[in-house]
Amino acid sequence: MNFSCQHIGIIMDGNGRWAERRDKNRSFGHEAGAQKVREITQLCSRFGIRYLTLYAFSTENWKRPSLEVSFLMQLMTKYLKNELPLLIENNIRFETIGDLNPFSSALKKQIQLTKETTAHHTGLTQVLALNYGAHDEMIRAINRLREYDITPTAEQIENHLDTAPFGKIDMIIRTGGDIRLSNFLLWQAAYAELFFTSTLWPDFSADEFMGILENFELRERRYGGLNG
Ligand code: FPP
Repeated sequence: MNFSCQHIGIIMDGNGRWAERRDKNRSFGHEAGAQKVREITQLCSRFGIRYLTLYAFSTENWKRPSLEVSFLMQLMTKYLKNELPLLIENNIRFETIGDLNPFSSALKKQIQLTKETTAHHTGLTQVLALNYGAHDEMIRAINRLREYDITPTAEQIENHLDTAPFGKIDMIIRTGGDIRLSNFLLWQAAYAELFFTSTLWPDFSADEFMGILENFELRERRYGGLNG
């Protein structure tokens, strides 16, 4: 199956509520969320999507209870370790956006290893947004322009955003019922198609995902111009 969509961004919301509805703690929901990351990544790879950018940890997520933050860090490290064979088997390249500086050296090492091992892969690129916030990304881009004394045109700003190597975003999907972008890819969202679903991330199914991809094909993208 082939879709015209090249680059998908996903705000994976609803892990906590998914767990609470099962009388489990939030960590259980994040584990289920990580499993869903695996499934959706494999689907994108099979569908010939070029880039999948996943909002895994935002610059605002540090405000969560420290136990939840440290669980998410451990989960991320474990996920990357376990995921490597799947990335290799499916020719998937691993990349990140966001500022990795505050992460532990163990996590940074695992991230680096996963990037290096998969750098030559030519299939899907899975991009994890880690300690990512669109405001932070834009500030870092502007500071880089200042550093090199570059006039900030739209093209130059775009070229200095974290997503520069991965091209334009075609669609952003948000699970979990909220209708907002929560500081995710704000610049890049300018002409992206937006899809919101009340499905909680661990329940997000292949069928629903395919329905969204099919719906994308029906949308007329005019980029501010006129029809036809
Ligand atoms: C939102 O659910 C989700 C996150 C804060 C981060 C997403 C994390 C994962 C999908 C799991 C780990 C990811 C990887 C790549 C290993 P929430 O906790 O805000 O849910 P709620 O809105 O129901 O409380």
